[in-house]
Amino acid sequence: MNSDIFALTYEARSVRVFDEERLPSKELLCHFVDCARVTPSAGNMQVLKYKVCCDADTVKQLRPLTRWAGYIKDKKLPPDGKEPTAFIVICHDKSIGAVTPFTQMDVGIAAQTVNLAAREAGFALCMIGSFDKDGVRKLFDLEDDLEPQLVLAIGAPAEEPVICSVDETGSIKYFRDSADIHFVPKRSLEEILL
Ligand SMILES: Cc1cc2nc3c(=O)[nH]c(=O)nc-3n(C[C@H](O)[C@H](O)[C@H](O)COP(=O)(O)O)c2cc1C
Repeated sequence: MNSDIFALTYEARSVRVFDEERLPSKELLCHFVDCARVTPSAGNMQVLKYKVCCDADTVKQLRPLTRWAGYIKDKKLPPDGKEPTAFIVICHDKSIGAVTPFTQMDVGIAAQTVNLAAREAGFALCMIGSFDKDGVRKLFDLEDDLEPQLVLAIGAPAEEPVICSVDETGSIKYFRDSADIHFVPKRSLEEILL
């Protein structure tokens, strides 16, 4: 079935190569957060807070605190000069409620909502779960109650990853071919329907 939401979701791949010449404005980044603001939330507690960052100096300091593409060993990603130009750090505000397993669900819902909003606006992101939490906390001088959960690295996409099928080896590891195209194996609909 074709639908706008399927097309947008299909396009909204994790991007790790960016065009540093085209920057998302602070206003646009705040619009992405506004989309996340109105998503479902466990108990409607709305425990998430967002640090939006697009000034060049802070972005430069945040980049080395993030870890990218663990399956790809033979290439630096993002490449120098093709790095994200903005970040949104999703934090849990413990002053509203304790961190629970539902926190992670709220974070995922918010992150994918930002992903879709970014794509719709011609930008792209990579969710970064592997990052230096203490470094991020320090960089933004976050209060003790704010627990960084997920970093969204955002920019103008300079690559279009391609979805492929999981082959007979069963590997789900993303890979890049000799033309440096990034492929993401996805299980088939038949396989995931129980
Ligand atoms: C919760 C979460 C954490 C992730 N953390 C990282 C990360 O630390 N570094 C990275 O390069 N990609 C990270 N990713 C991106 C995944 O590798 C990516 O979603 C996966 O390869 C599938 O590609 P796709 O998003 O294009 O479908 C993360 C994705 C999610 C959902």
